[in-house]
Amino acid sequence: MRGVVFDGSRTEVVDDLEIREPGPGEVLVAVAAAGLCHSDLSVVDGTIPFPSPVVLGHEGAGVVEAVGAGVGHVAPGDHVALSTLANCGACAQCDRGRPTMCRKAIGMPGRPFSRRGESLYQFASNSAFAERTLVKAVQAVKIPADLPFTSAALIGCGVLTGVGAVLNRAKVDRGDTVVVIGTGGIGLNVIQGARIAGALTIVAIDANPAKEAVARRFGATHFLTSASPDGVREILPHGADHAFECVGRTELIRTAIDLLDRHGQAVLLGVPAATAEASFLVSSMYLDKSILGCRYGSSRPQRDIALYAELYREGRLLLDELVTETYPVEDFAKAADDAHHGRVARGVLVF
Ligand SMILES: NC(=O)c1ccc[n+]([C@@H]2O[C@H](COP(=O)([O-])OP(=O)(O)OC[C@H]3O[C@@H](n4cnc5c(N)ncnc54)[C@H](O)[C@@H]3O)[C@@H](O)[C@H]2O)c1
Ligand SMILES: [Zn+2]
Ligand SMILES: [Zn+2]
Repeated sequence: MRGVVFDGSRTEVVDDLEIREPGPGEVLVAVAAAGLCHSDLSVVDGTIPFPSPVVLGHEGAGVVEAVGAGVGHVAPGDHVALSTLANCGACAQCDRGRPTMCRKAIGMPGRPFSRRGESLYQFASNSAFAERTLVKAVQAVKIPADLPFTSAALIGCGVLTGVGAVLNRAKVDRGDTVVVIGTGGIGLNVIQGARIAGALTIVAIDANPAKEAVARRFGATHFLTSASPDGVREILPHGADHAFECVGRTELIRTAIDLLDRHGQAVLLGVPAATAEASFLVSSMYLDKSILGCRYGSSRPQRDIALYAELYREGRLLLDELVTETYPVEDFAKAADDAHHGRVARGVLVF
């Protein structure tokens, strides 16, 4: 079968991948569509260290092909969106509703794929850039059959991360003021999460002026092309209740902190290099300010994906508008180039 493989130095679209049968508690999914998130590109450029060879992709949707022993919540033929959380479901963190913090779900990549006798790693417990992938039961979330796969695919990272950061982590309240730095797939979902939460002012910032129209479509009330504090303070003289960094640059993390109002919180979503350090003015923090890290929108995928699918059907959550371009998987290089140059909100590979 076809898939996108990164061998540690280059990516290649191959057609001789194999995948093992589902074992107990596993689900084999025929992937129909998969979004290209910046984190895939960050594996290729080394920003996110990951063992290789690896099958990329972590934001997908498709049809259940087979289930292993003990899987009862989905059956062959069901449509599913895939989460990246291979959490155990049985530890104290899982039990308290924090599956993103499950220690069994971080840093233990499986190797369900093989090619020419060599086994390949699975990226983010997911590898949606393959015709078929194998996930744990908790990762396969049933979605209504009338959701287009190209749109449903984006729920599994962009929407869970962006909307989840707003609703689950920051807990943005009605009337709050929000600044969003970076309006790619993640930032746009932060913007629409803030709109859904009832934020009053949503200032979107992106260095690429072509992003203004889509940012406003998702709910931005203002758009700026520079994260200079002066520009933001013309709109929000006291600063923001919430500032989300959605690019992954340390100087923008500093800016997010500098833009906070009293009691404000900076939420870090962008992922800089693993060794990156950022600084802030300590004296600025005493006014009850906070810096919050956020993994995967602090999501609970079985609950949140179902919620987002319902909000989409009601017209309150935008998904179709995120899909600027679809590409056959063979055109991965073009999709990566378009994403790298900011030509798309999200590019989606189809099988
Ligand atoms: N925390 C998590 O769980 C999580 C999950 C998914 C992705 N991420 C990370 O989120 C980040 C964003 O991902 P994405 O898929 O939205 O990326 P993207 O490439 O789609 O979007 C990035 C945006 O930032 C803008 N940008 C770049 N430099 C800028 C600058 N100096 N000032 C203002 N805007 C600038 C670009 O124009 C682009 O619109 C990445 O670092 C990714 O690894 C984190
Ligand atoms: Zn992602
Ligand atoms: Zn667990």
